Amino acid sequence: MDFALKDRPLRLGVLLSGRGSNFLAIAGSIREGRLKGVEIAVVISNVAEAGGLAAARELGLPTALFVSKGRKRAEHDADVTACLQKHGVDLICLAGYMRLLSPEFIAAFPDRILNIHPSLLPAFPGLEAQTQAFDYGVKVAGCTVHFVDEHLDHGAIVLQRAIPVLESDDAHSLADRILAEEHQAYSEAIARVASGEYEIRGRRFVKRGQPYGGSMDLQAHE
Ligand code: GRF
Repeated sequence: MDFALKDRPLRLGVLLSGRGSNFLAIAGSIREGRLKGVEIAVVISNVAEAGGLAAARELGLPTALFVSKGRKRAEHDADVTACLQKHGVDLICLAGYMRLLSPEFIAAFPDRILNIHPSLLPAFPGLEAQTQAFDYGVKVAGCTVHFVDEHLDHGAIVLQRAIPVLESDDAHSLADRILAEEHQAYSEAIARVASGEYEIRGRRFVKRGQPYGGSMDLQAHE
């Protein structure tokens, strides 16, 4: 993962299936100059009615729709891959993309796919993570932006944001407050990846040039 793109903006491909509030937060960060050196090359949806797709059209961004229902995963993903390549996408941002990715898709973009998940991974992967966390009774919740690998909600973590669970919370209010954190976290994470100042070492996403901090270090402190 080395973008080395000093001469042109990093081109994002956003994949979404729903309302697209994370996409809109990213678009807002770019428009307001908080996320520099980045542009949205294309917004792709697998759901015709996705609110995020309509919002992208209204913003005048390039969009594409590949309806996934009833199609073989590999065939659908091949169409999406070709579209991303046609638009010269450097980094793919999954933003509420409710579809598992084929191994071929993931292999086509090594360390170039980000996802946002509404829990502090590795706790509560999968669907309805906020409700899972609330029902479990955690005192701290949050969100995670991570690289995508072949396992669900699993790749190297770019950043996390945590919030306390309040006595007054229910699962909905908690999800709303996590979503507000997501909207900050995704742009921050993209900025980190785009900066070229970080690298993936094992599972850790760390500043380049830092001395190696392997897990052996922990034993030295025991
Ligand atoms: C967010 O909670 C995100 O963490 C999860 O899907 C939801 C998408 O919401 N992956 P939105 O469509 O971005 O509003």
